[in-house]
Amino acid sequence: MTRLSDWMQASGLARLDAQVLVGTVLGWSRAQQVAHPEQELRDADLARLNALAARLRAGEPLAYVLGEREFYGLTFRVTPDVLIPRPDTELLVDLALQTFDALPPLSARRALDLGTGSGAIAVALAHARPVAQVWALDASAAALAVAHANAQRLLPAQRAGGAIRFVQSNWFSALREAEAAVPRFHCIVSNPPYIAQHDPHLPALRHEPTLALTGERPSADGLGDIRYIVTQAADFLHDDGWLLVEHGYDQADAVRSLLAAQGFRAVFSARDLAGIERVSGGLCPHPRATQSAPKIV
Ligand SMILES: C[S@@+](CC[C@H](N)C(=O)[O-])C[C@H]1O[C@@H](n2cnc3c(N)ncnc32)[C@H](O)[C@@H]1O
Repeated sequence: MTRLSDWMQASGLARLDAQVLVGTVLGWSRAQQVAHPEQELRDADLARLNALAARLRAGEPLAYVLGEREFYGLTFRVTPDVLIPRPDTELLVDLALQTFDALPPLSARRALDLGTGSGAIAVALAHARPVAQVWALDASAAALAVAHANAQRLLPAQRAGGAIRFVQSNWFSALREAEAAVPRFHCIVSNPPYIAQHDPHLPALRHEPTLALTGERPSADGLGDIRYIVTQAADFLHDDGWLLVEHGYDQADAVRSLLAAQGFRAVFSARDLAGIERVSGGLCPHPRATQSAPKIV
């Protein structure tokens, strides 16, 4: 028999990671673990702990090993088909909710989450504002399946079926093609791929989908998808609708310039908890510019 404290020591993991795995496998709180280091592990638990620890030691992110990650107070299932939701992205949800709350009472609230991944943003919005109509779009069918399952699990039963409309699409293309009239939104939110092609951080993110990190066509500055979204979004916004885009720590100036060049009004950037400009946005151009679609390069 192996004692809990012996396994912890031999696991080769940071103490907190080891405690999280023990919590998952044994269902024990950290306080219980500290109080009973002498606990002997059953063979089945030991085998499971060793298997999970091996994945962590091999560099797999904890969220994939556990199959879940908390975002906006909700526990999302995650698989390697989706980006692991980041705390920074909660700022995007906060700002989207502010745009909803600025609308006249009782008026409709319709949001589009572009590149929904696990569904983190779309589900958080639908959960926080149950009357909102939320659309969630992604190019990846596998990601949409994860997002759909998260909506089913996390939204109240009467909302889970219809609260979010899931659409597989290369950015706006399905919206242009499928609807008799182009749908318009009060808020378009997106955490698109924005990592540059040769970014030195990419190897550390190798377990997450390339489509989520650099996009289908990686660009030298990482801004290819943001550039495309900014030039297209006005066609899908109400006149008082906002576009809100997450971006990299050094991309705020460039994204504000892109928004201003497209005629977006009240262009701004907001800082995340680390004080970094993380989200930029603007109000629908007025009058709308008629643009031809740029190529993603
Ligand atoms: C950075 S991840 C964001 C995931 C999620 N919204 C979040 O914040 O955790 C970007 C997402 O955009 C999707 N995506 C990439 N290229 C796309 C495209 N051309 N059209 C639609 N979605 C795309 C990816 O599949 C991925 O889910």
